[in-house]
Amino acid sequence: MTKITTKAIRQLKGKRPVVCLTAYDAITAKLASDAGVDIILVGDSYGTTQLGFETTIPVTVEMMLHATAAVVRAKPNSLVIGDVPFAIARRAPQEVLTVCARYLQEAGADGVKLEGGVEIADTIKLLTDSGIPVFGHIGLLPQQVNQLGGYRKFGKSQAEQDSLVRDARALQEAGCFAFVGEMINDDAARAVSDSVEIPLVGIGCGPHCDGQVLVSTDMLGLNPGKVPSFVKTYATLKDDITRAFSTFAEEVRERKFPT
Ligand code: KIV
Repeated sequence: MTKITTKAIRQLKGKRPVVCLTAYDAITAKLASDAGVDIILVGDSYGTTQLGFETTIPVTVEMMLHATAAVVRAKPNSLVIGDVPFAIARRAPQEVLTVCARYLQEAGADGVKLEGGVEIADTIKLLTDSGIPVFGHIGLLPQQVNQLGGYRKFGKSQAEQDSLVRDARALQEAGCFAFVGEMINDDAARAVSDSVEIPLVGIGCGPHCDGQVLVSTDMLGLNPGKVPSFVKTYATLKDDITRAFSTFAEEVRERKFPT
């Protein structure tokens, strides 16, 4: 298989859904690529799924570059997108450009993801004009969780749906090749998708999107805590790993291993 490009992702719209999973390390990235995943998102969910943080807010650019570089070292055919962490996207556009350039130059990413819509469209335009592919992100923005006062569904009212459509159009005009929609009401997600020519990759947005993304540790059943209700678990790795660790512990204590 050949390396997937942003152009190929854009052209999937109307043909087949885009497949996106998160990964934060080389092994998972290799497995995702071998499984034919289109986009590997090195999400800032790295902070909650791997680093033990309660939210994504403590995640720094250095942490993201470290994880992104590990994913890139797996040489995946999937497009590798590095997430830009808390509060960076709202800095002065030139400053955001300097940070995002590091994802491509130092970590080897194929592009970046930024949370936000209309309010960061000018910044995204500067990035795309500078040659940095951008994966947008609208709807629930986990980096704003303290400001929002919790996680909730977006687009239930007409006003909110209209605002999401404005965000999606702004991202398209700014040059995004695709965008994540998180926790958007099913009907609003359909309206958002219909309003633009770039793919809407949904998480918790129902079936009317142009693709789906899940956090890999959630869908693998690896997460020891609660997972969002929209997640489908395709494996139960937490149980498999616990069983393997317990068997090892028992066999060592009973001198059954090594034989
Ligand atoms: O950080 C992340 O994993 C994400 C996904 C939830 C889309 O942004």
